[in-house]
Amino acid sequence: MASEPFVVSSVNYLDPNGPPPALYWRLPPADAKEPQWEPRDIEVHDIRGHEHDYTMEEHGFEVTSIDFEVDIKTDKATVQSEYYPACCELVKKATGASEVYAFDYNFRSSAVTEYDEVADKPAYLVHNDYTEASAPQRVAIELGEAEAKRLLKKRFAFINVWRPINHTVEDLPLGVIASKSTAPEDYVTCAMYWPDRDGETWMVKHNPAHEWFYLSRMRTDEALLLKCYDSATDGRARYAPHSAFEDPTAPPNARPRESVECRTVAFFD
Ligand code: OGA
Ligand code: FE
Repeated sequence: MASEPFVVSSVNYLDPNGPPPALYWRLPPADAKEPQWEPRDIEVHDIRGHEHDYTMEEHGFEVTSIDFEVDIKTDKATVQSEYYPACCELVKKATGASEVYAFDYNFRSSAVTEYDEVADKPAYLVHNDYTEASAPQRVAIELGEAEAKRLLKKRFAFINVWRPINHTVEDLPLGVIASKSTAPEDYVTCAMYWPDRDGETWMVKHNPAHEWFYLSRMRTDEALLLKCYDSATDGRARYAPHSAFEDPTAPPNARPRESVECRTVAFFD
């Protein structure tokens, strides 16, 4: 890592002195308190040119190429019928999983200030999409109780396929913390309230040991595979906390960051 160039930026960690965190996805907050953040400076190391040194097994993320198009204007039915299968194939190829399911996606644009029906803004908070409890629950929610019963006997991993759309990322790239630089006590459960269900994610407290990485000027033919959960406890990377961050080397008048992440779950024989 030491040889890689880095940029200094700031991200929002969870304030360890704040109230138990809760977030309301596209819902107005009820009387519970929103999380309090602790902005911290970080060094984010650029893996461009060394992409192949970083693997989901070791670091929790890896870079792959992606050749199918999707666009912020693509309707939901087309994303589901055409983009989901392509992402599943990609994850299968990258991991050797025997079954992969895609079940959710978010278009994001930094031109959006609030949720606007089409796209969300980048996520400016350090988080991991699942927790120990919510990962198996999500399998049952997305695939049904009967399938969950069969599939949860296997090793499984939740993997996001994150990729730029429309143009190269000029600012607000996605930073990822190398899994093994995190400690169990860094993760704090955050209640999540969606319009149709409740769940939880992990927010992350600052730890000076965290090693941050990104892929500079990420192109639309590149995808970052983010492992947000792995049921295996054999020493391989299990989570990959992440956040958008401001790139101090961004050109003036950088185009908005536009991206899509497709959520998949992979099962292994
Ligand atoms: C994700 C995610 C944030 C962003 O892909 O899970 O949190 O800003 N993305 O793209
Ligand atoms: Fe996320």
